[in-house]
Amino acid sequence: VSKENEQMIQAYEQLSKFYHHLLVNTNEGQEALEYLTNRGFTREVIDHFQIGFALNKRDMGLNFLKRRGYSEEFLERSGLVIKSEHSNEYFDRFRERIIFPIFDNKGNTVAFSGRILTEGQPKYLNSPETIIFHKSKTLYNFHKARPNIRKKQSVVLFEGFADCISAFRAGIDNGIATMGTALTEDHVNIIKRNTNQVILCFDADAAGQTATMKAGELLQAAGCHVQVAMIPNGKDPDEYIKTNGPKNFVNEVIGSSLTFMAFKLKYYRLGKNLQNEGEKLNYIENVLNDISKLGNAVEQEMYLRQLAEEFSLSLDVLKQQVRKMIFQSK
Ligand code: CTP
Ligand code: MN
Ligand code: MN
Ligand code: MN
Ligand code: MN
Repeated sequence: VSKENEQMIQAYEQLSKFYHHLLVNTNEGQEALEYLTNRGFTREVIDHFQIGFALNKRDMGLNFLKRRGYSEEFLERSGLVIKSEHSNEYFDRFRERIIFPIFDNKGNTVAFSGRILTEGQPKYLNSPETIIFHKSKTLYNFHKARPNIRKKQSVVLFEGFADCISAFRAGIDNGIATMGTALTEDHVNIIKRNTNQVILCFDADAAGQTATMKAGELLQAAGCHVQVAMIPNGKDPDEYIKTNGPKNFVNEVIGSSLTFMAFKLKYYRLGKNLQNEGEKLNYIENVLNDISKLGNAVEQEMYLRQLAEEFSLSLDVLKQQVRKMIFQSK
């Protein structure tokens, strides 16, 4: 580890403690604390995830870190401050935002994600890529969830920090989240070193469902056993827990996870009229193609029987078609 890496981590850790202090101990942090309280974040959770608040000041973080010996050029490289394009002045990247520290796999603070308190844009502002922060290799809460992932031999993957944190409050201590990007090969490798059982629990909107398809295919191709926990009524996990309570989340959502194949059957049907011959054939083609990719012969047989029954087709013909697809893909 280079000197600059160590110093950058130290700068993030010092500022993180300061932001946490501003949130929990000061009048200026009161509004942000109320916002979090209204969202159901307890003091315990705020401490556990080291959540903080950056005040609406131009250079509070800059001055705090300069007093501790860091140069402006270094702080710009860290992503914590930005150099103005017009003047030669530096100012804080994070202002008037709730600060979620991002940890690397060793538990070092390597980035921040700052949430706006109102409806403005962007909703979440992240640190840029630096020598210590690589979005495509970072999974939120991984360092704390890792022992639980190994013990339970299963991981729950969320779309957002808020979902991961609310699920933790509900007792899901093996939950992690991506950083607002699609799941990458690097993420899959990190997960696979610890377990091959993955439960996807993304938002119930169209974006979340499409992301579920992509992440599921990637994980399955890497040899993971994928399940999907679906949230009803277009909500996300955090909203579901707020409305329906933690018990229902654990039992009805996580506890009733579908196999990835069963999820795909539902997904292919969305917005389709299976009374229409063309759409029906297209649906059957999609499903057979997926069945042909299943590694497990028992699972293959099970879904083929379902398909045969639903559309009054002969099981033999379906099996023949699947064999053809397997042959063609070789
Ligand atoms: N995200 C981001 N930048 C944005 C919006 C989203 O980086 N402008 C990332 C964040 O990591 C966020 C995730 O994408 O956690 C999921 O986005 P979304 O579902 O819109 O946010 P929520 O997690 O539901 O956030 P909240 O509940 O605080 O509104
Ligand atoms: Mn604390
Ligand atoms: Mn979303
Ligand atoms: Mn969401
Ligand atoms: Mn949300």
